[in-house]
This record gives sequence, structure tokens and C-alpha cells, in this order.
Amino acid sequence: MSVFSAGWLALREPYDLAARNTTVLDAVLAAFRGQASISIVDLACGTGSTLRAISGRLPARQTWRLVDNDLGLLTVAGTLGQPPDITVTARAVDLVRDLELALDGPIDLITMSAMLDLVSEDWLERLMIEAAARRLPIYAALSYDGRVSFDPPAAFDADIVDAVNRHQQTDKGFGLALGPDAVRYAAEIAERVGYSFVDGPSDWVFGKADSAIQQDVLRGFARAAGDLRELADVRTADWLTRRLDMVEAGASSMRIGHIDFFAMPMAIR
Ligand SMILES: C[S@@+](CC[C@H](N)C(=O)[O-])C[C@H]1O[C@@H](n2cnc3c(N)ncnc32)[C@H](O)[C@@H]1O
Repeated sequence: MSVFSAGWLALREPYDLAARNTTVLDAVLAAFRGQASISIVDLACGTGSTLRAISGRLPARQTWRLVDNDLGLLTVAGTLGQPPDITVTARAVDLVRDLELALDGPIDLITMSAMLDLVSEDWLERLMIEAAARRLPIYAALSYDGRVSFDPPAAFDADIVDAVNRHQQTDKGFGLALGPDAVRYAAEIAERVGYSFVDGPSDWVFGKADSAIQQDVLRGFARAAGDLRELADVRTADWLTRRLDMVEAGASSMRIGHIDFFAMPMAIR
């Protein structure tokens, strides 16, 4: 399954929803409480999971601009409008080339999820400087932070996680990716541009019954380790077989670290 296929995004969505950090989301909601309407741009929207996750808690009248460069995912996202209260425009934009285009026009909030760990230092700086120039708050959910724990643990887990974390920092289309360092770097830039910053964990928690997502994640980890070409393939294959056997036996749990944040210009209210 490709990393950004609609199938993968649908599989992960309930875990993303359960993982979203409530303190961070409460800070987002508090910033807009009392407003009759809100305009949001969701960057790298996929099929629209951010809209599904938070629209029920925002001011009733909402205008969403959903942006992605994958036309198949955008087609699904474009069906999410609920006139007259929720208006949706799906816009095909390559955020590497045309970030500024995505941010044009009247917007109150920039959102994104499962996206920031893909981007480079330069791109993140560009995003936050563009946001600061427009005095726009940013809600970024579900950035991978490098923490993975397996229960029960097994030999070679740490080698695989280490390889995955280095693979996370390879180019995902935005230049060398920040991977697990994305939120730490966002906090540094936020301070520089005069933004307040609220963050908190939004870890995926997979119990023993969550076999489909564990299988996908484990296969993805083995693929990432293989791509790096630093571990012996036979050891990675053995590790994957052992871990998949544990999942199959209903004996495996996993926790995967993510972080959410809300950054807001300090003098916005
Ligand atoms: C992990 S998915 C997250 C999707 C969605 N935000 C979610 O949480 O389900 C990353 C998304 O980034 C989009 N993406 C990757 N590179 C992009 C680019 N250069 N411009 C716009 N979107 C991009 C992909 O198409 C994909 O939808």
C-alpha cells in the first residue's frame, strides 16, 4: 500500500482521531470561540481527515479550502461540503512550488495533519514566515516524533526504529525532511516570529486487536529500513516475520509517538 493511498489514510484515520491532543485542540477552539464563521485552509488535506475531525467543534459557518497535489485524494475531499453552513473548495496545489498561492485570500486558520514531518527546514520556515506575515494561526496535528515502543519488545526493534527515523529525514519532495525534529523546529521558529506555542502528544496506540494497522505499519517500517540499505535484508525480513507472527497471534501492541501543536500570533486577540 502506498504511503498516501486513500486506503492507508482511511485505515489510520480512526487512530489519528483518537490520538489528537485535547489540550491543543481546546486551544484552537478557544481562539475562535464566539465567532460566527471561520475560514480554514487545510494543507496536504488528503481525503479531508482534518475537516472530519474538527468541523463539528468550530463555529457553525465554515469555509474550507482543501489543498493537496494528489487529484485522486482531492476528489474525495471535494465532496465534504454541507451547504449552506460548510463550504468546501478543493484546490490542486503543489505546496513545494506554490505554498503562497494556497494561503492567498481571506483565511483565519491554517491546519494540517500527518504532514509536517515530511517537510524540510527551509519549507517549514517559509510556511511560518508566510503565516506570520498574514498573522495566521497554525494547527498542525499528528507529526511523527520518533518514539516507537513494542509490547512485547523483540530483538532488532531498536535497529529498525533507528533506521526508520533516519529514513524519515530523507527527501519526501520538500528537500531533506525534518522527520521527528519537525515540531521542535516549529517551536523555535514560532518563538522567533512572535507566536505563542501549545503542544502535546498525540500518540497512536494500537492494542492487540488492531492487527490491520499494525501489519501495515510494520511492513512500512521494514520497507523504510530496506530503502536505507544499512541493515542486512535478512535480519530485517526475520524481524518483520517475528513481529507479524505476534500480531497474527493477537499478542502485539504498539505505541507510536506524534505531537500536535497550535501556534498563534501573540497579539491576535
Ligand atoms: C500522510 S498524508 C496526510 C493526509 C491528511 N492530512 C491526513 O491526515 O489524512 C500526506 C499528504 O501530503 C500530500 N502531499 C505530499 N506532498 C505534497 C505537495 N508537494 N503538495 C501538496 N500536497 C502534498 C499527499 O498527497 C498526502 O495527501
